[in-house]
Amino acid sequence: MRIGIITSGGDAPGLNAVIRAAVLTAHEKYGYEVLGIRQGFDGLLNRLDPMILTPESVEGLHLRGGTILGAANRGSPFARTQVLPSGEIEVQDASHEATARLRELGIDALIVAGGDGTLRISEKLHDMGVPIVAVPKTIDNDLSETDVTFGFDTAIQTATEALDKLQTTAESHHRVMVLEVMGRDSGWIALVSGVAGGADVILIPEIPFQLDPILAKISRVNARGRRYSLVVVAEGAFISLGEKQYLADSDPRRERLGGIGNFVGNVIAERLENEVRVTVLGHLQRGGQPTPRDRWLATRFGSMAIQLIARQEWGMMVALQGTNMVAVPIGQANKSNFIDPNGEMVHMARDLGISFGV
Ligand code: F6P
Repeated sequence: MRIGIITSGGDAPGLNAVIRAAVLTAHEKYGYEVLGIRQGFDGLLNRLDPMILTPESVEGLHLRGGTILGAANRGSPFARTQVLPSGEIEVQDASHEATARLRELGIDALIVAGGDGTLRISEKLHDMGVPIVAVPKTIDNDLSETDVTFGFDTAIQTATEALDKLQTTAESHHRVMVLEVMGRDSGWIALVSGVAGGADVILIPEIPFQLDPILAKISRVNARGRRYSLVVVAEGAFISLGEKQYLADSDPRRERLGGIGNFVGNVIAERLENEVRVTVLGHLQRGGQPTPRDRWLATRFGSMAIQLIARQEWGMMVALQGTNMVAVPIGQANKSNFIDPNGEMVHMARDLGISFGV
């Protein structure tokens, strides 16, 4: 049995731990070979040489962030895009090239680690007959069917540490500190790090915000005599009846969220007397060593993926439900997991006096 493993979409701390666990389980328990596909589906379509993965080559990987295989944020075999000299974007279905390349490499089973876009690709490849199992990955924690994704714990640790550091300087200078965090269209990183880091205001995409309640909250903090405030803004948060904010990108195929932290910071600075500083945490949240909890989850996922292959449970994704590792159909798992605006977590945060800008 020769297993291929591919890491697709943005990286997340813990991907290397998945690779290591899959390789160790494949070799130690079953005697399977493992080939790493470089640079995601782009690398598969571009016929990059695969990486032969052995227990020796994955030694020490558990503690390394990123992915040794490289990742690509685009490169769906079903929609290979190319920017033409005219600036137009040409889209082609290259899925048969991808399956042909897998056959050429002698791959009997494919592990795909990725987020929602990757899961959609995996489901289609499965429908074409590719023996595939998936591992859910994203710092955003926005995938359904698994209680949590690896990478999330590391991201919230980084975001919480940032808030802790901002708090001490905010206190000295009596400032409002605005921290913009990642999370795409979900507010998990903002909500969890915001509560853990003692934020006064948390703005998340699931709850479109208004400006007056934010200003009122900061004014209340001022009036109580605490002369600093912490505001956490998810990159996908947006003003009620307004639009999400995007940054320019050199590649016209990409949409990059960003800018909402500065927008909120500017409004506070214009409308209140507080000094305001804005920090955009950016890719610090994706980098660095995975936390022990992420290593543990990623290792369980990687090992479980090999068990599914051994049992020929194709088209399934490994998931954590409660404390158990389970397998769920990929097609069921590629839905988004958003924060319930009326759920217990948001109510609890409101009970603490945190404002969501409404
Ligand atoms: O999905 C993970 C993520 O880090 C999002 O939180 C963020 O919006 C996006 O990827 C950033 O992507 P890129 O690395 O392409 O800028």
